[in-house]
Amino acid sequence: MKKREQWSSNFGFLMAAAGSAVGLGNMWKFPYMVGMNGGSIFIIIYILLMVLLGTPILMSEMSIGRNTGLNAIDACDKIKKGWGFVGGLGTAGAFVILSYYGIIGGWVLKYLVKYITSSSIGNPEEYFRDFSSSSLEPIVWMFLFMALCVIIVIRGISGGIEKISKIFLPLLTLFIIIIAANAFFLPNASEGLKFFTVPNFSAVNSVKDLFSVILNAMGQVFFSLSLGMGTLITYGSYLSKDSNIQKNAFYIPLFDLIIALLSCTAILPAVFAFGLKPQAGPGLIFQTLPYVFGHMKYGRMIAIIFFMLILFAAITSAISLIEVIASFLIDNRKWSRKKACIIPGICYFLVGSAASLSFGILNNVKIFGNSIFDFLVNLSDKIIMPAGGLFICILTGYIWKPQNMFAEMSSGGKFKVYFQKTISFLIRYLSPVMIIIIFISSFIK
Ligand code: PFF
Repeated sequence: MKKREQWSSNFGFLMAAAGSAVGLGNMWKFPYMVGMNGGSIFIIIYILLMVLLGTPILMSEMSIGRNTGLNAIDACDKIKKGWGFVGGLGTAGAFVILSYYGIIGGWVLKYLVKYITSSSIGNPEEYFRDFSSSSLEPIVWMFLFMALCVIIVIRGISGGIEKISKIFLPLLTLFIIIIAANAFFLPNASEGLKFFTVPNFSAVNSVKDLFSVILNAMGQVFFSLSLGMGTLITYGSYLSKDSNIQKNAFYIPLFDLIIALLSCTAILPAVFAFGLKPQAGPGLIFQTLPYVFGHMKYGRMIAIIFFMLILFAAITSAISLIEVIASFLIDNRKWSRKKACIIPGICYFLVGSAASLSFGILNNVKIFGNSIFDFLVNLSDKIIMPAGGLFICILTGYIWKPQNMFAEMSSGGKFKVYFQKTISFLIRYLSPVMIIIIFISSFIK
C-alpha cells in the first residue's frame, strides 16, 4: 500500500492549519463584528470562547485525524462504525463554503489586478455593483481563483499545501503589519482604534443583547478556526506522532487572533479617518476601502499590498477545504490526486457560478427566502458548522472518550497533556450545550 503523505515538519503543518484559520473571516468579518457587538466586550467574549469552545474541538479534530490517518469521513467511521456521517457533514460543508468562498476569492483577484494595472477605482460603489452583478466577468475571476487553488492541492501535502502556506503566511503577516503600522499615521486614527478597543456598553444593555453578542462571537470562533468542517481532521491525518497536538492547538488560535486584531488595526482607523463607517461583509473590502485607498497617500501601493494579503489568506483557507474533499476521494474511492481535485472542482465551480449570478440575473431566484449566495452562506454557517462541531464533541466526549484522545495527544507518553479534567468537561458538557443554544437561537429572530 502507498504510504500516506505527511507534512515535512510541524512548522509546515502549523502554517497550513493557521493558514486555513486565517482567511476572509479575519479580514472582513471580524473588524465589523467587533464594532457592532460592543467593541472590546466582543473581543473578551471571543477570546474566552476561543479557549473554552474552540481549542477543545480543535484538539479533538486533530487527534481523530492523526489517530486514524484517514480523511474526515473514514476517520469518524473508524472511531465508531456508523459515525462517518459526522465527517460527511463536514465534507459537504467544505463543498458549500468553497462554492461561495471562490466567488469572493475571484473578486479579490480582480481588484488586485485592477490596482496593479490602473491607479484607482473611480466610484467604488458603482464599480463594485456593476462588476459583481455582471454575468461573465466575476465567473471568470472565480474560475482563475479556484484553478489556482486546485493546482496547489494537486501538488500534494508537503509539495503543494505546505510549501505555499510556508510562503504565504509569513508574507501575509508582514503585509498586515505594514498596513496596520500605516494606519497609525492617518488623521483621526484614534477614532478607529477606539471603535474596537473601548467597550461600548450600549451594545449590551440587556440580557438579550449580551446573549446575541455571545452568539455572534461563537459563530465567529467556529468560522475563523475552521471548525466542524473536517479540515483539522484531514490536516491532522498527515501529522507525525512527533508533533505535539496540544501545543498546536494553542498556537493556531493565538495566531488567528493576532491576525484578526491586526486586521482591526489595519482597517478601522483607515475607515474612520475618512469619515466613513465600517459596513458588513463584501461592502467593507470592495466599496469602503477602495474609497479610502483613493484618498490616501500611497493609496495604490497600500491597496495592492492589501488585496495581495487578502488573496493569500483566501487561498490558504480554500486549499484546506479542497483537501477535505480530495482526501476522501483519494482514500476511499482510490482516485488519483489530480482527478480528486479536478472533478469536485468542476462541481463547486458550477454551484459557485449560480451563486455568482445571484448578484445579477438570478437575483430573483430564492431558496427559503435567500438568494443563492446567502443560502450557501447560511447553510454552512448556521447549520453545517455548528452541527459538525456538536457531533465532534459527542463523538470524542461520549463515544471515543476523552482518555483515548489524550492518549493520542500524548504520542505514547512523549508529551504531557495538561488540563485533562477541564478539557473533558468542556468537550462533554459545556461545548455541546453552548452549540445547541446557538443552533436553536439562530432560528429564533
Ligand atoms: N477560517 C476561514 C476564515 O476565517 O476565512 C474560513 C474557513 C476555512 C472555514 C476552512 C471553514 C473551513 F473549513
